Amino acid sequence: MSDNDQQLRVSKIRNGTVIDHIAGGQALNVLAILGIDGTSGDSVSVAMNMPSDRLGHKDVVKVEGRELSQDEVDVLSLIAPAATINIIRDYDVIEKRRVERPSVVEGVLECPNHNCITTENEPVDSRFAVGDDGVRCEYCDTIIRDDLPAHILAE
Ligand code: CTP
Ligand code: ZN
Repeated sequence: MSDNDQQLRVSKIRNGTVIDHIAGGQALNVLAILGIDGTSGDSVSVAMNMPSDRLGHKDVVKVEGRELSQDEVDVLSLIAPAATINIIRDYDVIEKRRVERPSVVEGVLECPNHNCITTENEPVDSRFAVGDDGVRCEYCDTIIRDDLPAHILAE
């Protein structure tokens, strides 16, 4: 046992993706956006409000057995702009990336307009254009400015 074990609150993973530098308290929203609810059988660890030099407090999510793609994680920029994506193979970080703001997010957020075609029982996925002051529904132009987590679609 090394001295480090006292600080290692969540184990390292062998293969998968570590989403690091999530703003404190956002980890569960990260899981919701990625559609990770534990039913797939993959091991998922979540650490919340860990001390961080950069952020004060940060959350960390570790998904074992899955290498998340850049497209999958870019949507996280809406709620976790400082997140770092680490791809792990055989315990090594083989790739470290930042999330990038996508121009469009599809099938992730629910339009607040109940008359919007995307909220009815139609097979139409929601599509929001990402702007500087919020996201705008491409079907009805409704803008979500803040409280994005409240509009995350349940899987
Ligand atoms: N990690 C993990 N399992 C591994 C390797 C790394 O869970 N097998 C986690 C680390 O705990 C850390 C993140 O992946 O939260 C990034 O690892 P690393 O790049 O080694 O850490 P730092 O250098 O501190 O990362 P950064 O510079 O991005 O803060
Ligand atoms: Zn709409």
